[in-house]
Amino acid sequence: MEFKNKTVFITGAAKGQGRAVSLAFAKSGANILAFDLANKITYPSYNNSSSSDLTILKKEIENLGGKCEIYAGDIRSEKDVAKATAKAISAFSTIDILFNNAGICAYGYAHELKEDEWDAMLDINLKGAWLASKHCIPYMRLAGSGVIINNSSTGGMRGMNRLSHYSASKWGLVGLTKSLAIENAPYGIRVVSIHPTGVNSPMNDGLAEMEGSTPLEIAERSAGNLLPVPWIEPEDVADSVLFLASSKARYITGSQFVLDAGLLTR
Ligand SMILES: NC(=O)c1ccc[n+]([C@@H]2O[C@H](COP(=O)([O-])OP(=O)(O)OC[C@H]3O[C@@H](n4cnc5c(N)ncnc54)[C@H](O)[C@@H]3O)[C@@H](O)[C@H]2O)c1
Repeated sequence: MEFKNKTVFITGAAKGQGRAVSLAFAKSGANILAFDLANKITYPSYNNSSSSDLTILKKEIENLGGKCEIYAGDIRSEKDVAKATAKAISAFSTIDILFNNAGICAYGYAHELKEDEWDAMLDINLKGAWLASKHCIPYMRLAGSGVIINNSSTGGMRGMNRLSHYSASKWGLVGLTKSLAIENAPYGIRVVSIHPTGVNSPMNDGLAEMEGSTPLEIAERSAGNLLPVPWIEPEDVADSVLFLASSKARYITGSQFVLDAGLLTR
């Protein structure tokens, strides 16, 4: 129960990695503020989560004996983020850990992308992480402690074919991570980015639909892991996130935590 009475604010919590991380923290005693979309978004064209997915997550956490508040909103909206933060504080009094995880991914050559596609990618994947950090950091500073974990990607450490906007947003998270780490170290707050290889999550089902390929084909083409696995599981990401949030990682800040099954070694 390493995280007993700690509050974890998790964006993109309704499914995939966000869901796995929410459940893992709840099993370790934490209170969860689960933030995800209320409605489907038009870009990318595959389905995103809905408030009913959040309700299911809340029930799952309560069945484990944990506490969960949900907020259905858009991470691009400062109003939504401010309201969700206020909800977390009103329910649990503190925000100790922030997992900036909400994200989208879609293919497109840079010279063919539309302006609104570029903006959606950058606003959700990068601006959203800044907004949530902006609203959580004051509570962490008051407490004199906190951990922020930004879910980047191996795409935040290399270029990717037909994913220039995704890769740019994920490299942006590295700059955000390092700058937040510098600004907040004097207040006992650690900030790290994580860089998973392909994860077996609904995001990749969506990409497979866009590509007209099977998830396995997508994984084989885009991953190139050294270890003989096409994917890692959302629960593998959760293990790393819980380690980074724990006291065992107390001197890890400003750095990039690579969880890539050897992909970037090539
Ligand atoms: N799936 C992968 O292969 C992979 C690999 C490395 C990093 N990542 C990153 O991990 C994070 C989680 O991805 P996942 O694999 O769990 O994908 P996912 O699609 O399963 O989950 C993403 C969640 O973010 C939510 N979301 C999207 N736009 C939002 C918005 N505007 N406001 C609030 N919530 C929003 C979705 O509704 C969804 O629940 C993403 O940032 C992704 O880029 C994914």
